[in-house]
Amino acid sequence: MKAIVVTDRAARTAGMKLVEQPEPQAAINDVVVQVHASGWVWDEQTWPSTWTDRRDRDRTPSIPGHELAGVVTALGYGTTGLSVGQRVFGLADWYRDGTLAEYVAMEARNLAPLPGDVDFTVGASLPISGLTAWQGLFQHGRLQAGQSVLVHGAAGAVGSMATQLARESGAYVIGTGRAAHRQTALDFGAQEFVDLQNDALEDVGGVDLVLDVFGGDIAKRSAGLIRAGGTLVTVTGPTEARPANGLAVDFVVESNRAQLSEIVRRVRDGRLRMNIGNVSTLDDAVAALNPPERPTGKPIIRVRP
Ligand SMILES: NC(=O)c1ccc[n+]([C@@H]2O[C@H](COP(=O)([O-])OP(=O)(O)OC[C@H]3O[C@@H](n4cnc5c(N)ncnc54)[C@H](OP(=O)(O)O)[C@@H]3O)[C@@H](O)[C@H]2O)c1
Repeated sequence: MKAIVVTDRAARTAGMKLVEQPEPQAAINDVVVQVHASGWVWDEQTWPSTWTDRRDRDRTPSIPGHELAGVVTALGYGTTGLSVGQRVFGLADWYRDGTLAEYVAMEARNLAPLPGDVDFTVGASLPISGLTAWQGLFQHGRLQAGQSVLVHGAAGAVGSMATQLARESGAYVIGTGRAAHRQTALDFGAQEFVDLQNDALEDVGGVDLVLDVFGGDIAKRSAGLIRAGGTLVTVTGPTEARPANGLAVDFVVESNRAQLSEIVRRVRDGRLRMNIGNVSTLDDAVAALNPPERPTGKPIIRVRP
């Protein structure tokens, strides 16, 4: 099969190569999926799991990419819950070969059925940012209707999903980002917007929850905005930022079939959308993922046109 591999950690995406690889085999509880579309997160090449296995041993050449939509072509020993020919989407294991390939082997539990009227391109755009937003807001942030949430990077992939999901759940949403992101964040449903380049974050006043995608100084300053009993949720790794009288949680997104199904149900109903950016083929993906300037919108690789 055709696949993109990386071997050189320092080269990041510039080291990507399109090569021929053997097709993967389904292990216990796995399925093999014929990948129709794969989603891309720009800083994936900085994640240690792209380069090493769970015991921190080099696993290169590795196939990057973790989001996919496609069709099940084989079941492993003991696999239940999915069948050959089924349309699926989901989140592949961080430490295994990924989705920038014609086929991927992954655990069935990391996939959910993709309804027939949802395009593979859309399906592949949802897993990481949709699940991160869902888990950050509702699982770790315990967001309730009537509460207020500060969503950082509200025009970005995670932030735009979080803004829409939080609004829909009855929360009051304040989005942040660069000056140029104001209208996009408001279009996704933010009721207020803080331009981090020109406005004072501290003017926001008290909030019940912060969903942080930046870390560092922004996370620290955001902790000071959190009301007693509130939560700072961050996805950028362990943080020293702590609300004075609340919780701080950092987490890495996990796949969850029920949550994926909730997310795709909202997409079908027109209640949730992803800002899809450039869509390239697998043959063109190395160039598309090494652009002269980073384009806006979620990049998708349409592996099977
Ligand atoms: N732990 C986890 O499980 C997990 C899961 C998903 C994502 N993440 C991490 O979360 C982060 C966001 O992911 P994403 O997919 O949402 O990325 P994204 O689509 O690039 O969104 C980030 C948004 O923030 C904006 N931004 C970046 N730096 C900014 C700054 N200094 N001031 C104001 N706005 C700024 C970006 O604008 P520009 O495009 O103009 O830069 C973009 O609109 C990434 O670091 C990703 O690795 C972690």
